[in-house]
Amino acid sequence: MRFSIYRYNPDTDKDGYMQDYDIEIAPNTRMLLDAILQIKAVDDTLSLRKSCREGVCGSDAMNINGKNGLACMTPLDELKQPVVLRPLPGLPVIRDLIVDMTQFFAHYNSIKPYLINNDPPPATERLQSPEDRAKLDGLYECIMCGACTAACPSFWWNPDKFVGPAGLLAAYRFISDSRDHATEERLENLEDPYRLYRCHNIMNCVDVCPKGLNPSKAINEIKALKVKNRFK
Ligand code: SF4
Ligand code: FES
Repeated sequence: MRFSIYRYNPDTDKDGYMQDYDIEIAPNTRMLLDAILQIKAVDDTLSLRKSCREGVCGSDAMNINGKNGLACMTPLDELKQPVVLRPLPGLPVIRDLIVDMTQFFAHYNSIKPYLINNDPPPATERLQSPEDRAKLDGLYECIMCGACTAACPSFWWNPDKFVGPAGLLAAYRFISDSRDHATEERLENLEDPYRLYRCHNIMNCVDVCPKGLNPSKAINEIKALKVKNRFK
């Protein structure tokens, strides 16, 4: 198979460039990540992140034939050749397919991605009705791969100010949690011309999410809650 892969080594390269690889892929190789590891066995200078190999850790997000996704969840036989692999767009490249996620996680941390509840801890766990628990479906499954945020033009334009789809999905996950008592504070934390309102429903996030989540819908739910709050 033919691959064209973005290469950049900050120690030796002034700019990035594309490198072609023609590789005899082992029979029964199913997923793109396995093929990339076979390329790496031939050229060990090729750098990428990966860990779980099954869509759980979120570390092998990259741009695959023009669309962000997880290499381990991408069937090889669905890809047109040459398979063009680039690092996630809109994030600084550290080396080859590895991007700097510092900004991404700074936005995530800014929404306080943990339960806030100052009631005395109960003897066992904080209980939730099955109905309230169901409200978290479609929100809690995010693996923080960054594919959505790195596909969002609003993030590309304002990476330091717009929280981005992944961070805002997480914000809505805690706003929706019946056990969390900081809804007002969370909404106020997004009251800013950039943090929330730079989302213009471009919906690339929905298109690329490997877990089938809908950050765009979550963002609109937050906006609707803010409007309701204004007229309370
Ligand atoms: S919402 Fe989807 S694409 Fe975005 S970080 Fe979470 S799992 Fe990845
Ligand atoms: S290697 Fe963990 S999600 Fe792909």
